[in-house]
Amino acid sequence: MIPIDFNRHRRLRSSAKLRKLVRETTLQIEDLIYPLFAFHGTGKEEISSMPGVYHFGLDELRREVQELAELGISAVLLFGVPNHKDHLSSEAYHAEGIVQQAIRAIKQEVPDMVVITDVCLCAYNPDGHCGIVKDGVIENDSSLELIARTALSHVQAGADIVAPSDMMDGRIAAIRHVLDEAGYTQTPIMSYSVKYASSFYGPFRDAADSAPAFGDRKTYQMDPANRLEALREAQSDQEEGADFLMVKPAMAYMDVIRELRDSFDLPIVSYNVSGEYSMIKAASANGWVDEEAIVLELLTGLKRAGSDLIITYFAKDAARNLKQGR
Ligand code: PBG
Repeated sequence: MIPIDFNRHRRLRSSAKLRKLVRETTLQIEDLIYPLFAFHGTGKEEISSMPGVYHFGLDELRREVQELAELGISAVLLFGVPNHKDHLSSEAYHAEGIVQQAIRAIKQEVPDMVVITDVCLCAYNPDGHCGIVKDGVIENDSSLELIARTALSHVQAGADIVAPSDMMDGRIAAIRHVLDEAGYTQTPIMSYSVKYASSFYGPFRDAADSAPAFGDRKTYQMDPANRLEALREAQSDQEEGADFLMVKPAMAYMDVIRELRDSFDLPIVSYNVSGEYSMIKAASANGWVDEEAIVLELLTGLKRAGSDLIITYFAKDAARNLKQGR
């Protein structure tokens, strides 16, 4: 043996007991938020690009939230697939719209389930854009009123938290104002603060039938190359009254999650999006990766990066594994 000094890092890894004792990050079921898609009608349909993820009619939605509650999942993020699209996105804020009906169904079934609603216009208008389109331009200021009206109608239907994903400037201020005026001063806003114009949303757009009819979302969603801009977006949202800050997508943006965690004291949420889900599903279906292990590693990584909460289509699988103590 060569007589040299060195540190023995392996000492703390020498047994499962010791590794558990010094583990820095723990993933808990309470950290997970499960996305749900509701449609008018009955039954459920698997989304072809997202195996294991379904569109739910209201009857099946009720069954699904019972199952989520049994698994210990305490929060869902709700999306609607409307019957009707028009230029004013009117089903988005209709009292009998799909999201409003789904909120009431979930609350009837599992009153304690925290219902977070995605607030956006893209699935509700034929342009497939997140704001109002005039002469080929996605207008900012005229979109704010409809977005705030949508948020209010979700809260009136019983939503616990609203999550605007449209990326219009000023939407947090507009929603906060409208909710406060209506007396909903206690309803939090979870802002999709840092939302990149990402190719990882592909499978979701099939699921929600919300792909843009022309152009792309690059005039409102962020350039994946930018980090400082993420801080500016988050800063504005905090000033305007956001209660949670979100980073989306998650896997290619772990540095941004960490940066937000270190720069703000609001809860940080990361969204492990559809493309991230489908890639792992596809690799696992081919037998190329161990899905169960890879999912827990990924979600633990997102927590280590600074996420307090994780929105993920893997929430049910992860909850089952966590329950079994894996
Ligand atoms: C709506 C919205 C999108 C997602 C969440 N809300 C799509 C988009 O912005 O194009 C993506 C979710 C996912 O990919 O899982 N604006």
